Amino acid sequence: MPNTSPRATIPDLAELHAMGAAQQPAYPDTAAVDAAVTRLRSFPPLVFAGECDRLKDKLAAVSRGEAFLLQGGDCAETFDGVTADNVRNKLRVLLQMAVVLTYAASVPVVKLGRFAGQYAKPRSSDLETRDGVTLPAYRGDAVNGYDFTEASRIPDPQRLVEVYHASAATLNLVRAFTTGGYADLRQVHAWNTDFVLSSAVGRRYEAVASEIDRALTFMQAIGADPDEFHRVEMHSSHEALMLEYEHSMTRIDSRTQLPYDVSAHFVWIGERTRQLDGAHVELLSRVRNPIGVKLGPTTTPDDAIALAARLNPDNEAGRLTFITRMGAGKINDLLPALVEKVEAAGVQVAWVCDPMHGNTYEASSGYKTRAFDDVIAEVQGFFDVHRALGTWPGGVHIELTGDDVTECVGGGEELAEINLAERYESVCDPRLNRVQSLELAFLVAEMLRKA
Ligand code: PEP
Ligand code: CO
Repeated sequence: MPNTSPRATIPDLAELHAMGAAQQPAYPDTAAVDAAVTRLRSFPPLVFAGECDRLKDKLAAVSRGEAFLLQGGDCAETFDGVTADNVRNKLRVLLQMAVVLTYAASVPVVKLGRFAGQYAKPRSSDLETRDGVTLPAYRGDAVNGYDFTEASRIPDPQRLVEVYHASAATLNLVRAFTTGGYADLRQVHAWNTDFVLSSAVGRRYEAVASEIDRALTFMQAIGADPDEFHRVEMHSSHEALMLEYEHSMTRIDSRTQLPYDVSAHFVWIGERTRQLDGAHVELLSRVRNPIGVKLGPTTTPDDAIALAARLNPDNEAGRLTFITRMGAGKINDLLPALVEKVEAAGVQVAWVCDPMHGNTYEASSGYKTRAFDDVIAEVQGFFDVHRALGTWPGGVHIELTGDDVTECVGGGEELAEINLAERYESVCDPRLNRVQSLELAFLVAEMLRKA
């Protein structure tokens, strides 16, 4: 008899917390936590297990060198950011990037949004001090408010329920946009119309769009009109950080009787919560979704091999993605041994580059920023290392937005530190704006062509 209780296959929350769970908020009201968890457990899944399996198959193709992963979105989503314009703009830049990568590199692109759940942030410090006042650090809208007041910074578990609703609204819009005509390849020009005259990269994109248009017209003339021309499969992902949320959204799949975290298709473990004996690794070792682990510069090859053994004991292709984030100055020194030893151990994994989190610095004005050139340098290092080893550079993981923000310096618009104040909107890390994102796509497409 299959056992249908999730508790029979995954540890309960108290056991997880007892294992030592890093980066969890100190909720003052435990009854309110229980009430939020009860609510969450009663809600329907946000994604289906079968959709997670489909993504796993695509990531297996990435790990075999047959496809490329484009994963991108905000560092931290906000509840206020759940608007039609915001979601559409993010989707649009991802679709444009995917078109550039697919067309210029002739490689299938797996599209994975860093959205519909990316509401919780790990922090290097539990507290923040401003002008002599010390309050709990902002841990994302899933936990507390961004405003620097005591009332707003107290962790409120009701926010986890709000994460569910915000994620449902976002995912609903994404599904409507991607299957309801907006992502039709005939729209390649329309995604760009507001952009083409205002930027050089918009004009460059327009040339690609025209070539695609001609190809589509030809296909139509010969009577070919596959479904793939009209819709796009976009998956959702976020860092699985809040144990209450991820545990409540872990359900037994009725087809297979196996547990899936149905809060997103793909969830990852962050650099600060990847302890081998920690709660996050334990929880994600039990769910059947495709999962990722961020690997920073302190990761030894043995750490990575041990994580793979724990998280993917059957060594199933597509199950595990290693997202390396070494920093532009370190990747050429650190990545070769990591990749070489993990590969030599026979570990099946998709290698993906996060060129954002190793390249953050504080501008003299106090803004957290990243230089576009450092981002590109890390991606280039990633491609170079994989080319030298004969392994496949499987994808990129980017913090981006579809809007014209001024958060990262450099790029074709030559944003300078002085410009950061003009439109700095991120509540956490700086994101590439639309121009920078599309420029990155063109540069990565060139690297891919040579990979
Ligand atoms: C992130 O992806 O926003 C993040 C916090 O990354 P990392 O865990 O790699 O530091
Ligand atoms: Co970030």
